[in-house]
Amino acid sequence: MSQETVTIIDNTTGKRVELPIVRGTQGPAGIDVRTLNRELGLLTFDPGFLSTAHCRSALTFIDGEQGVLLYRGYPIEQLAAQSSYLEVCYLLLYGDLPTKPQMREFQSIILHHTMVHEGLRRFYSGFRHDAHPMAIMVGVVGALSAFYHDSTDIHDPRHREISAHRLIAKMPTIAADSYKYSIGQPFIYPDNALGYAENFLRTMFAVPAEPYKVKPAAARALELFLILHADHEQNASTATVRLAGSSGANPFACISAGIGALWGPAHGGANEAVIRMLETIRDPAEIPQYITRAKDKDDAFRLMGFGHRIYKQYDPRAKILRQACHDLLKEIGAEHQPLFETALELERIALQDDYFLERRLYPNVDFYSGIILKAIGIPIPMFTVLFAMARTVGWVAQWMEMMEDAEQRIGRPRQIYVGPARRDYMPLEERE
Ligand code: SDX
Repeated sequence: MSQETVTIIDNTTGKRVELPIVRGTQGPAGIDVRTLNRELGLLTFDPGFLSTAHCRSALTFIDGEQGVLLYRGYPIEQLAAQSSYLEVCYLLLYGDLPTKPQMREFQSIILHHTMVHEGLRRFYSGFRHDAHPMAIMVGVVGALSAFYHDSTDIHDPRHREISAHRLIAKMPTIAADSYKYSIGQPFIYPDNALGYAENFLRTMFAVPAEPYKVKPAAARALELFLILHADHEQNASTATVRLAGSSGANPFACISAGIGALWGPAHGGANEAVIRMLETIRDPAEIPQYITRAKDKDDAFRLMGFGHRIYKQYDPRAKILRQACHDLLKEIGAEHQPLFETALELERIALQDDYFLERRLYPNVDFYSGIILKAIGIPIPMFTVLFAMARTVGWVAQWMEMMEDAEQRIGRPRQIYVGPARRDYMPLEERE
C-alpha cells in the first residue's frame, strides 16, 4: 500500500509539503510533522497537546468516544474482574499475561524487593510531621537513585528491568512509611508472606504492639483500585516521566517527576479534591448551587472528578468504581454512606444538565475512588499517594518502552514567541 500523506500548503508563501500519515493498530492516525519546520519554516501550535501524539505505544489504548480502556489489548472490565495488580504489572511490563511459573517468579521477585535501605528511612525525619505525603513521596522516591548505583545504567535492559521491579516493590513501603511518619508511629516492615495489597494495608495500619489482620474486603477493594489506576496512556504524569527520561535521567528521578505532575488537582490530586468537595456539600439540597458554581466561568469551583481530556462519555473505570463503592459499602454495612449518596445525587443532577451534557463531562476515575479509599480507612492526604503507587507500573513500563524506541530523542518542544523584538540595554541613569 502506498504511503498515505496529507498536503500542507502555506497560503502566504504558496509553499507546500507532503507529510506522511502515521497509522497504528487502533485509534486515530497522526500526521508526521517532523519535517514541517524544515520544509515550510512553520511549527505546529497545540497548547495542552490536544491534537499531538508524542510517541507510538503498545501499552494502553483508550477510546474516549466509546469509553474503552485496554491494557495490552485486554479490556479493563475483564482485568478488574479476574486479574490481580501484580498480574497486571507483569502484563504491562512484558506485554502478555504470565503463565503460572512466570507469575510465581514475578511475584517472588517483587515481594523480595519490598524493603527499603535503612538509610532511606532516615530521610523522613527531615520532613515536618504535617508535610503532605505527596511532598515526601517526591523527595524520597527521587532519592532512591542515591542507593542503587548498581542498576542505573539506563542503556542496560537488565538494569532497566531491575529498576522497574524495585520501584513496583518499594512504592508501597515508601508510601506506608510516609503515613506512619506523619502520625508518629514506628515504620512497619513488609511481610513477604502477604500479597501486594495486604502487605501495604498491614504496613499502613499495623502497630508493633499487637497483631494485625487485614480485612479481605479492604484488600479486594485496594486491589481493584490498583488495577484501575495502573496505566492510562499519555496522561500528564506519564508524559512527564517520558520527557524526563528522554534526557537520560535515571528511572527514580523520572518517577519522582511523575509524582510531582500527578499531584495537581486537575490530575491525580482530584481524588483528594473530590472527597473534600463532597464533604463541603453538607446537604444534597445544596447540590444545585454547586452545579451553578461549577458552570460559572467567574467561579474557580469545578466539579472535581468530572470531565476528562479523552473520555467524552463515562470513564469505564468510574463505572467499575461506582459499583465497587456500592458493593463494599453494603459489605461493611455502610450502604447509606452520606458521601456516596451525595456523589450519586451530584452525578444524577449534573448528567441532566445541558452544560455538562453539551461539553460531554462525565464522572472520571477520581469521582468514586476516594469513597472506596475512605471506606477502607485510608486517610484523605494519602489518596493521591495511592494513585502514584498504582501508576508506578504504568510510568515505568512507559519509560522502558521509550528507552527501547529507536524513534525517541530528547523531548524539546518549541514555542511561538510573543515577547519584545531585539532592543539595546539602557543604563539606569538614562531610564525615567
Ligand atoms: C485524571 O489524562 C488522563 O488520562 C488523566 C487520568 C489518568 O488516569 O491518568 O484519567 C486521571 O487526571 C482524571 C481527571 C481528574 N481531574 C478532575 O476531575 C478535575 C476536574 N476536571 C477538569 O479540570 C477537566 O475536566 C480536566 C482537567 C480533567 C480536563 O480538562 P480539559 O480536557 O482541558 O478540558 P477543558 O478544561 O478545556 O474543559 C472543556 C470545557 C470548559 O468549558 P468551556 O470553556 O468549553 O465553556 O468543560 C468545562 C471547562 O470549563 N469543564 C468543567 C469541568 N471540566 C471541564 N466545568 C466544570 N467542572 C468540571 N469538572
